[in-house]
Amino acid sequence: MGRKFNKVSVIGLGYIGLPTATVLANRGVEVVGVDINAKAVAEINEGRAHFHEPDLDAMLESVVKAGRLRAVTTPEASEAFLIAVPTPVSEDATPDLRYVEAAAASIALVLKAGDLVILESTSPVGTIELLSHQLGIARPDLKFPHGFGDEADILMAYCPERILPGRMMTELVENDRIIGGLNEASVSAAMALYRTFVRGQLVPTGGRTAEMVKLVENAFRDVNIAFANELSKICDHLRIDVWEVIALANHHPRVNILNPGPGVGGHCIAVDPWFIVHSANGLAPLIKTAREVNDSKPMYVVGQVAALAHPGSKIACLGLAYKADTDDLRESPAIDVVEELALAGYDIVAVEPNVTELPLRLRNKGVQQADLEAALEQSDVVVLLVDHREFKELASSSLEGKRVYDTRGVWPQFRTRSHVAPASFSIAAE
Ligand SMILES: NC(=O)c1ccc[n+]([C@@H]2O[C@H](COP(=O)([O-])OP(=O)(O)OC[C@H]3O[C@@H](n4cnc5c(N)ncnc54)[C@H](O)[C@@H]3O)[C@@H](O)[C@H]2O)c1
Repeated sequence: MGRKFNKVSVIGLGYIGLPTATVLANRGVEVVGVDINAKAVAEINEGRAHFHEPDLDAMLESVVKAGRLRAVTTPEASEAFLIAVPTPVSEDATPDLRYVEAAAASIALVLKAGDLVILESTSPVGTIELLSHQLGIARPDLKFPHGFGDEADILMAYCPERILPGRMMTELVENDRIIGGLNEASVSAAMALYRTFVRGQLVPTGGRTAEMVKLVENAFRDVNIAFANELSKICDHLRIDVWEVIALANHHPRVNILNPGPGVGGHCIAVDPWFIVHSANGLAPLIKTAREVNDSKPMYVVGQVAALAHPGSKIACLGLAYKADTDDLRESPAIDVVEELALAGYDIVAVEPNVTELPLRLRNKGVQQADLEAALEQSDVVVLLVDHREFKELASSSLEGKRVYDTRGVWPQFRTRSHVAPASFSIAAE
């Protein structure tokens, strides 16, 4: 059975922390959610999430009403602390651990012997050891695993998160989890905590391995998407439908190429590979190049759209989120494309059904917002940037007479399709 946790604190109540806190509370644990965002804390205490995630609101409302989850802005004593704060990269692509360090500093004063500290934030290899050192300096009266191994008073583990926005409440329970402890006691305590709500397999390992596993998963996807994005440019040049090529290649039982798009966004795949590059001492040229290929895709899309448009064209840009059917705009390549088109002087109308207001950086560049119907009516060029359900379901008659660039391959009638070589193509050409 293992240890039973009666009171757990979750530090950081965002996309990861709030669903986790809610599911834990739903399993009967007393949960204290901690966030520095007082507005989010107030909303959570009223039983409402401060972002949209299917099935979260109903469970949140019920655990808050039952008094099993409450949100605060300052940590209090608990038996376990689960940290899920942001881990961005700085402008120069180096890891920014300020939020993790601040979260650890905030719990230092309330720690007591026997407590478990878990880091869930995606982090560079060595971060959980770094936190053990940091906490050891803040609390010299307690023994931490980096210095005391199995004799430590405080248990520390790194347990990465893999849930997919839009399916978080299901995947939190069903996904397998990697449990990376700094000693054996940390592994078994963390296994016991996750067993409270996880039905998937719990796989024990060391902290450094667990940190690397999470980074490797996202770097693998980034490299695969970079391959698809490179193929999309080559296929544009050769006038071949890249989505057909990938679908046919994926009929091979050991090939699984992901889809190209306008670039890679979000706070995970577009960020985490840099953590490997930063610590790899020059040994990660492939992972670095994949990042650069994906980061350069928005400008390629801008060039393709410019080739379709005329000076004075009105361009409808469909979708701003970094992925389909979410309101998450973080690191979205669609926003980069829209901003660059606006900077190039085009008259832009953006459609994003999942947000009420355009980001400031687009409003500042004169980008207008409209619903789908109004945007299509006004525009002569249409750029599909996100494969939201509303756009996939659009009747093809709505696009009649428009010049269309579809970065997601959802409208087959607008994909490149040529059974003979383009005039510019020569087999001898480089
Ligand atoms: N969102 C995802 O799909 C996803 C998936 C896997 C892993 N992750 C990783 O999980 C971590 C958290 O991501 P997220 O998407 O939940 O971020 P988020 O920005 O949605 O939420 C983070 C929360 O932490 C709060 N916070 C910041 N500093 C704090 C502090 N010192 N004390 C208390 N609260 C603090 C913020 O106010 C915010 O509410 C990141 O490392 C991310 O890479 C995210």
